Amino acid sequence: MHFLLDGDPGHDDMLTLYLAAKHVNVVGLTTTFGNSSVEHTTRNALRCLQMGNLNHIPVAKGSVRPLVNEPRYAPHIHGDTGLDGAELPEATVDIQPLHAVDFIIEQSFKYDDLVLVPTGPLTNVASALIKDPTLAKRLKGISLMGGSLTFGNTTPAAELNIYLDPEAADVVFRSGVPIKMFGLNVTRMANATKERIADIRAIGTPFAATVADLIEYYRMALNKAFGLEGASLHDPLAIAVFIAPELFTLKKMNVQIELNGKLTRGMTVCDYRSSDGRRVKRDDAEFENDSAVVSGFEENVEVAVDM
Ligand code: BDR
Ligand code: CA
Repeated sequence: MHFLLDGDPGHDDMLTLYLAAKHVNVVGLTTTFGNSSVEHTTRNALRCLQMGNLNHIPVAKGSVRPLVNEPRYAPHIHGDTGLDGAELPEATVDIQPLHAVDFIIEQSFKYDDLVLVPTGPLTNVASALIKDPTLAKRLKGISLMGGSLTFGNTTPAAELNIYLDPEAADVVFRSGVPIKMFGLNVTRMANATKERIADIRAIGTPFAATVADLIEYYRMALNKAFGLEGASLHDPLAIAVFIAPELFTLKKMNVQIELNGKLTRGMTVCDYRSSDGRRVKRDDAEFENDSAVVSGFEENVEVAVDM
């Protein structure tokens, strides 16, 4: 399989990159606004590659803003640059000329086993699916960090990546592409505690020290914002499932994105009733005209329910 990472680095996006580069074939990294502006996240992506000796991985710069919303960022978690906490080396390689959307489409023609791994707002992926309606059929899958089976982190109901561009998420979840979804219900379990950060530092290389400094910054920010003890390493799970699938329990179900709710815009509405192969059919439902009751017929999403 070939993997194209799409994210907004971002502390945990950075770790996704390092994990993927070590274990799987990474064909490129596309960037989006999200944790910070796309200018910042692209600069961070290039610097992370430089620091990891990974300059052979091409970077394509992507979406500046969501499909409909005004852009918003998460400086309270990732700092103003999107990757505060350490000084990374200046990049010696620049972005490649294609826009992220065109890069995604181009790579889908090169590899017939391409998996997209989005770890930020889904704007690039949605834009590519809209620009090339044949793309969905060519993709092997999408494994993403976003949403939740339970609670949100940006609102009570919505997780940041989905909240920042719900319309894009709606396009992606309705695309019919097989999706693996790693939401907050599991990603909050992947914790970099103080002890684990100390273990990374103890490796003793400058690379390990910088990574430890970055995760510690992120841990403190999450502690301040949510009272969490460990740093939630959300994004790496979307690639970890291909390296150590035995760690996760996934269940197929129908997932829809709430676009209108006054309290719930950006929520991933996961139909647990349709999990375990049980399809919720229109004539099974008690209230057959209510779209919230009969949420849909496609169970193209494997939702991580436990790890
Ligand atoms: C997601 O938002 C960002 O803060 C992280 O990088 C992750 O992708 C978690 O809600
Ligand atoms: Ca991210």
